[in-house]
Amino acid sequence: MKRIGVLTSGGDAPGMNAAIRAVVRTAVANGMSVVGFKRGYNGVLMMSENSRDDYEILTKRSVSNTIHRGGTFLMTARCKEFHLPEVQEKAIANMRGLGIEGLVAISGDGTFHGADALNSRGFPVVGVPGTIDNDLPYTDYTIGFDTAVNTALECVDKIRETSDSHERGSLITVMGRDCGDIAINTALACGAEIVLIPEREWSIEETAGRIRWAAMEGKRSTIIIMAEGAMRSLKSDLHALAQKYPELGVTGDAPLSSSKLAALLEKMSGHEIRSTVLGYIQRGGNPSASDRLLGSRLGSHAVQLLRDNQSGLAVGVRDNHLVEVPFAETFGSHRPVNDSLLHLLDTLSTFSS
Ligand code: F6P
Repeated sequence: MKRIGVLTSGGDAPGMNAAIRAVVRTAVANGMSVVGFKRGYNGVLMMSENSRDDYEILTKRSVSNTIHRGGTFLMTARCKEFHLPEVQEKAIANMRGLGIEGLVAISGDGTFHGADALNSRGFPVVGVPGTIDNDLPYTDYTIGFDTAVNTALECVDKIRETSDSHERGSLITVMGRDCGDIAINTALACGAEIVLIPEREWSIEETAGRIRWAAMEGKRSTIIIMAEGAMRSLKSDLHALAQKYPELGVTGDAPLSSSKLAALLEKMSGHEIRSTVLGYIQRGGNPSASDRLLGSRLGSHAVQLLRDNQSGLAVGVRDNHLVEVPFAETFGSHRPVNDSLLHLLDTLSTFSS
């Protein structure tokens, strides 16, 4: 291969720049040139008004001074129409028109479907897992996860100080879409009492009971870490709670907001609870050392596979060894919840006997 393309797509993740840098420098070291597409597949489809804003030739120098920066300098976007066959064919024609023979897609699960489709149509693609969610079970870690957990941890440490001073509980919502990994890891690292995740059923009644118990044990501040997808595994009867506590304005129908959950927990536990949603702060910031290393290793490995005429694969890391698996094997499955980490959380929190 003489020329390859690279893009970032889906939600940005700290460490994506390190991966782009590794793609570019490994390609150049192997005699290939690199085209960087902007805004994911939108750049490949040349959708911006100014065509010069869709892609650029990346040199060793273009990626200088990027390894330590969060976000992605190629920018990112979702491309809803990319599932259409004619759109995929247009993407291939555009890349071939630029002399590009293979593509590295740095992204999450959604983009891998598009990558797989391009590959099935005869255009070689290798995927690099970039998402803070860590929701791709074929790899132990995705690029951005470690930084997101560290950012969440720093925020929770700060919230704990004010909670402790006021003897309040704190319900802190972290990102992760359908995956509880950011929540579990943050909870363990910050010494939280309770974690609520989409992969394990939970109830408001039991959570309120735990808050009461923690207070009886002498805890001044109870920290509850909730994954944003945790409402999916809530087993409480919301209609019954709405009737029991009409003054809280809980409707019983819509998904319960975290502020309403905090109000219910406060009412049912008899302890003041404040809610904080951490939100996009978890996606920004300088990547951690782990994410810079992971981005560098995976980006470089992806280019080596293309160079060796291997494609249709997503790269990852298992037990600290680089792996590559066919795209199809990355689809549809959920990472099994790490029961040993949950057990450890219970042992280390107030709830061990
Ligand atoms: O996939 C990363 C992520 O930040 C999820 O944790 C979150 O659910 C989602 O993206 C938010 O997506 P968007 O920025 O498109 O609203």
